[in-house]
Amino acid sequence: MKFFIDTANLDQIREANALGILDGVTTNPSLMAKEGITGEANIINHYKAICEIVDGDVSAEVISTDFEGMVREGEALAALHPNIVVKVPMIVDGLKAISYFSRKGIRTNCTLVFSAGQAILAAKAGATYLSPFIGRIDDSSWDGMDLIGQIANIYSIQGYETQILAASIRNPLHIVKSAELGADVVTCPLSAIMGLFKHPLTDIGLAQFLADHKKANG
Ligand code: E4P
Repeated sequence: MKFFIDTANLDQIREANALGILDGVTTNPSLMAKEGITGEANIINHYKAICEIVDGDVSAEVISTDFEGMVREGEALAALHPNIVVKVPMIVDGLKAISYFSRKGIRTNCTLVFSAGQAILAAKAGATYLSPFIGRIDDSSWDGMDLIGQIANIYSIQGYETQILAASIRNPLHIVKSAELGADVVTCPLSAIMGLFKHPLTDIGLAQFLADHKKANG
């Protein structure tokens, strides 16, 4: 399972990259706005900066909601760097755009996915990645992990090549469950990745090893 970080914060991207386990980055318009990245030129420069830090796929989301606009934006984004993946929302024109990009060899991440039906459409259109939003489903008292399992089952039965990118991850357990259920990728906030380290027995064991070493060696 690949690990992406879900942020536009360059410091956090560097920190995750330094762990040596980072395979890519996802962003969205809200994450870019949170970092104060506004205006077309700044947004483009920010994507380029991310691509310079991480040697892996970087999802850059289109803002247009019509086919022509998505194609125009997506082609410009894809031309920025070979690692850019064009992120397209799961709407009718979005599906048409994914299909167009697929025929042109431009890689896509179909975002805002909340059902297995949407997952089937995206795979049929040739999306490279599919982003089901686990946390937002949990937030509405459905089980986001059930959707990951259902999509993984369908994709396996049907032989679809679209990679399942578990998104809207809120905690380390979402990461573990995504791995169990066969997600190809997880995109996580840095806090969820760092949460994977945590176990009190690791801390207690290390403290004991160091204390015993000190006692024996002075
Ligand atoms: C990533 O591709 C998604 O845009 C992101 O994971 C959404 O996460 P959120 O539900 O925490 O905003």
